[in-house]
Amino acid sequence: MSTSARRAVLRVTDLHKGFGSGRRRLEVLKGIDLEIQPGELVAMMGPSGCGKSTLLNIIGGLLEADSGLISLGEFNYGTKSPSRVVNVRRRGIGWIFQDFHLIDRLNALDNVIFALELSGVPTAQAEEQARDALDKVGLSDRMEFIPDQLSGGQRQRVAIARAIAGSRPLLLADEPTGNLDVKSGQEIIDLFKQLCEEDGMSVLMVTHDPTLASMADRMLLLKDGVTAASDIRSAWGMDSQSAT
Ligand SMILES: Nc1ncnc2c1ncn2[C@@H]1O[C@H](COP(=O)(O)OP(=O)(O)OP(=O)(O)O)[C@@H](O)[C@H]1O
Ligand SMILES: [Mg+2]
Repeated sequence: MSTSARRAVLRVTDLHKGFGSGRRRLEVLKGIDLEIQPGELVAMMGPSGCGKSTLLNIIGGLLEADSGLISLGEFNYGTKSPSRVVNVRRRGIGWIFQDFHLIDRLNALDNVIFALELSGVPTAQAEEQARDALDKVGLSDRMEFIPDQLSGGQRQRVAIARAIAGSRPLLLADEPTGNLDVKSGQEIIDLFKQLCEEDGMSVLMVTHDPTLASMADRMLLLKDGVTAASDIRSAWGMDSQSAT
């Protein structure tokens, strides 16, 4: 299947965002354009403070941009306030964070069920969807464990199950491997790749780790308020050096 013939799952057009006003004004995003295709795993890198989390928050419907447009499947937003994009958060986007954000007192299954119930799924259906999602991330035998009884990698798998339950087309992951050892981090990226290949999900992942970024289908570099396609050398700031 040719990529160009497919419809992008996410399209971001000329997105601008700044904070503060007057002399304290800080322009963070200065015209972001990007597209993600169904089934694509895209890694985003960039210096600390360049606006990666800000961009993810806007795409995820948690923050509004100053101008620009986002289209995600049936949803068109970008400058709408978070209170007007509830359905983007409920049905469009699954979130994965560095520190997992699991509920300590609930076991793996109940963590996933609880999130589904909050987004309006009836309990019986939520349980079935939660079991399917935990199966998919390889935790069928850990459903009754609370987070304290799971390894870091397993906790992140619970968070991924929570993000994919309810069939959201796009996962946003903000440094998902930041708290994991190298091996567990690579396993998480492998799981992302599997979800992309087998289920046609798309993942936009922020990482500071060039090795993990190079495992993605594509890398984007966010720098000076705009995104550019990137390879590992330019992500390291090695553009100007002669290629060997
Ligand atoms: N609510 C806010 N009010 C004012 N400034 C903000 C706000 N949120 C973010 N910023 C500023 O915007 C810039 C981008 O922040 P952001 O968190 O998006 O960076 P980042 O690329 O995710 O960095 P890191 O790699 O360290 O996580 C920073 O200079 C930050 O201080
Ligand atoms: Mg950040």
